[in-house]
Amino acid sequence: MRRKLAAGNWKMNGLAAALDELKAMSEANGGETEVLICPPATLVAQAASVAGKIAIGGQDCHAKTSGAHTGDVSADMLKDAGASYVILGHSERRTDHGETDEDVRAKTRAAWDAGLSAVVCVGESLSQREASNTLDIIAGQLAGSLPDGATGHNLVVAYEPIWAIGTGKVPTTDQIGEVHDFMRAKLEKRFGEGVGRSVRLLYGGSVKPGNADEIFAVSNVDGALVGGASLKAADFVPIIEALGAS
Ligand code: PGA
Repeated sequence: MRRKLAAGNWKMNGLAAALDELKAMSEANGGETEVLICPPATLVAQAASVAGKIAIGGQDCHAKTSGAHTGDVSADMLKDAGASYVILGHSERRTDHGETDEDVRAKTRAAWDAGLSAVVCVGESLSQREASNTLDIIAGQLAGSLPDGATGHNLVVAYEPIWAIGTGKVPTTDQIGEVHDFMRAKLEKRFGEGVGRSVRLLYGGSVKPGNADEIFAVSNVDGALVGGASLKAADFVPIIEALGAS
């Protein structure tokens, strides 16, 4: 049985006062469902010290361990600050910073070398979906972004259709199921059945308390990567509970 994972991506949101929300989430969290919050890098160390049973992650890391890379953060630094996960290849990184599948693969390797689990994001644009290219895009991103050596512990894959992120638009449950079943089959083929079955697959894009139940009922959905609705305990706790009840 895969342990379900409710992951929150705070993106570029959150000053120290936001840690009160994390504390409220931590107090409400019974621990049956795994919960992860990825705050901005500036808050990782403080977040880790108040998170209780909630895991803390970064939102990106450099592929190198150290060196002349002004402004970047290495996987070792995240680990040292108390992180156990890092989100990699989020569509906002791919778009805003031109990250390629190859970049994401190198970063994933760096995360693993540092002892972090990687949450690798894939997802199609609206024009790609309208051209019926979704599965080809996902196949290409999985093949290119994932290094050899994945395990159920070091890898989580998040399916995040770009057109659903922050828009309030959500794919139908059939569309989510089609992609998640497809990703499961691809992972089993590439990494073997045992590993392929143990990697958790998250759905991300406009997950809210009001739609969480139906999304978590979809086959091969092992949790969610949540942006906006992970900022406040009042929104995120019901999503964690919906996942626990699914
Ligand atoms: P959203 O973001 O929940 O605000 O749509 C999801 C994400 O980008 O991870």
